[in-house]
Amino acid sequence: MYNEIDLDKIDIAAEPPTEEPARQYYFMAKCREWVRRFEQENGRLPKACVTTFGCQMNARDSEKLRGVLREIGYREGTEEKADFVIYNTCTVRENANTRVYGRLGQLKPAKKKNSHMMIGLCGCMMQEPEVVEKLKKSYRFVDIIFGTHNIYKFAELLFTRLESERMVIDIWKDTDKIVEDLPNERKYPFKSGVNIMFGCNNFCSYCIVPYVRGRERSREPKAIIREIERLCADGVSEIMLLGQNVNSYGKTLEQPVTFAGLLEEIEKIDGVRRIRFMTSHPKDLSDELIEVMGRSKKICKHLHLPVQSGSTDILKKMNRRYTKEQYLELVRKIRAAVPDISLTTDIIVGFPGETEEDFLETLDIVRQVRYDSAFTFIYSKRTGTPAAVMENQVPDEVIKERFDRLLTEVQKIAAEACAVHEGSVQEALAEEISGHDSTMLTGRLSNNLLVHFPGERKLLGRYVDVKLTECKGFYYIGEMMGR
Ligand code: 5AD
Ligand code: SF4
Repeated sequence: MYNEIDLDKIDIAAEPPTEEPARQYYFMAKCREWVRRFEQENGRLPKACVTTFGCQMNARDSEKLRGVLREIGYREGTEEKADFVIYNTCTVRENANTRVYGRLGQLKPAKKKNSHMMIGLCGCMMQEPEVVEKLKKSYRFVDIIFGTHNIYKFAELLFTRLESERMVIDIWKDTDKIVEDLPNERKYPFKSGVNIMFGCNNFCSYCIVPYVRGRERSREPKAIIREIERLCADGVSEIMLLGQNVNSYGKTLEQPVTFAGLLEEIEKIDGVRRIRFMTSHPKDLSDELIEVMGRSKKICKHLHLPVQSGSTDILKKMNRRYTKEQYLELVRKIRAAVPDISLTTDIIVGFPGETEEDFLETLDIVRQVRYDSAFTFIYSKRTGTPAAVMENQVPDEVIKERFDRLLTEVQKIAAEACAVHEGSVQEALAEEISGHDSTMLTGRLSNNLLVHFPGERKLLGRYVDVKLTECKGFYYIGEMMGR
């Protein structure tokens, strides 16, 4: 639908439509008028820059913001030169918030110099009432603040700001609404994230996500398939299905569908060559999914399966709803069905009450599973979550020491796991020109590892067979095989 809408045909003198997405297209057309006036007055188009903090969900949301900005007529610019800077924020750990305040402080002088400049803030951090209070009090120079539930209203909020010249704040506590068919601008022409669900119902006791992203809502399979078919028609061949907990996809739909069922439907789409997904919650990962992964020709040989801790006691306090043994059994089943699968994980160190014995259980599970890579996090106290008020918060020095021990172990095992493939020939999707050497390309293997190899720009977006000549710990140097 979105590629068929001509904004110039919209009657902007009329009242705004009440239906979505038509209402947003109306406001995009209104904003476009403003951009035209800007161009006449300044002899150039305005520039915008969207900066993403946090996860792949946010990265996808930023593509939606960029899509709206492109429709309106904004050009993309660097943050230093932009007339409109938007921070799409994350709040999963405290340091994510600190970074945003730091960056905002730096923007203030830039805004003084450029009278056109606007600053927008959105994303998870804006769903915290204390944050919005602080911004209202100490960051008056921010122009637009909105949250995770009403990102689809971006054009309307921007127009309100352009009209009123006042700080526009619109935060919703929750929503059951999903607005389809809005524009988006992909970072890569050949691969794309696709949201399959929003929100999370798990309430892991340390995690703020269910509070800032709201209850779980799945998109209709038809809407997902339609989006993927369009993406393929537009040159995309790799799809990353996104959700906080993809394994419980479809449970809340009027006609329930399983995640495994959805994957089978996506597999049938001709243009799709690779399918990835994240994130999986171990407690919801079904035998049906393992079977589908074992059979599939398109699902990549990679599973991100956050364990968080190896201690059953801590897992219970985290409200993860699986034990160490159940997790290990799941890994066994997955490896039996997909022998060459790469497993990655997230681990939190220093959850309240974590003893040395608990930590040793975490080291033990890392050694047993032998993860291909692991994101390790220091526990961060998030106000409003149950864990924030738990007793026995672990002292910083103890956490740091455990964190270092864990990291050493994780890196050692990851390097060994990576070395296993040295010398093999694998298919890589050429994604980028290497940042260090413009004669080299960076390709991604099915198992999600990167390989750098000599190659020409024209190969970008293509699948090539690469010999992994040298393992560098967590990536490879390779050479292309003749095709
Ligand atoms: N402290 C540290 N890490 C956290 N994560 C989520 N909440 C916290 C927190 N309060 C980590 C989890 C999750 C990843 C996205 O972030 O490991 O899987
Ligand atoms: Fe947070 Fe747990 Fe939901 Fe993941 S599954 S977003 S860790 S509450």
